[in-house]
Amino acid sequence: MKNIIKIAPSILSADFSKLREEIKSLEDGGADMIHIDVMDGHFVPNLTFGPPVIKKIRKCTKLPFDVHLMISPVEKYIKDYSNAGADIITLHPEATDNLSRSIDIIKSFSKKAGVSLKPDTPNELIKDVIKKIDVILIMSVNPGFSGQTFMPKVLSKIKFFRHKIQTEKLNIDIEIDGGIDFKTGPMAIEAGANILVSGTTIFNNKNQISENIKNLRKY
Ligand code: DX5
Ligand code: ZN
Repeated sequence: MKNIIKIAPSILSADFSKLREEIKSLEDGGADMIHIDVMDGHFVPNLTFGPPVIKKIRKCTKLPFDVHLMISPVEKYIKDYSNAGADIITLHPEATDNLSRSIDIIKSFSKKAGVSLKPDTPNELIKDVIKKIDVILIMSVNPGFSGQTFMPKVLSKIKFFRHKIQTEKLNIDIEIDGGIDFKTGPMAIEAGANILVSGTTIFNNKNQISENIKNLRKY
């Protein structure tokens, strides 16, 4: 059966001086959710949004907020991002000393839980928690910046998890994040991804946001 493809534009590539309009264009353009890259200048070498910003933009759209936490230690901030309006909270295993407990905390706020794997993070790191997560976010670049080049080696990660999800009948989305364009998007979908994150490709030509979303989805 073919997976339904969802598009999660990353507002890391938006114009921060007019986030409301940018988010509105994404909603009008058919985005399925808004991907929000939270960076702390420590887990990754860049700084972005804190809970107050997310709380403000929460009022701009009804689309789900897919919050990708690249912060360490992450656990003590889960509550703040949950209260700010996250619907999906994704963290990296390296950012917590107890992955299982951190996932339970996300779930205790009735949010969807995601775990993200960097290109070199072993798949085995999530084997003990896979049954209780909703999303596996596979990074196809080293996290920190938009506009990087897709690493094809992560396609094997996608295939590994798609196979596992199918054989074990798990209800988990596979999301791919980093360097997704009209060439790499189809490669990721072919391998088994069903949510595409995209910053640069979607915001590249601002007059064409809806075309870009449609073209990413159409494969
Ligand atoms: C990178 C972020 C990505 C990034 C994607 O650390 O997690 O979500 O914004 O941007 P592009 O699509 O430009 O690679
Ligand atoms: Zn991201």
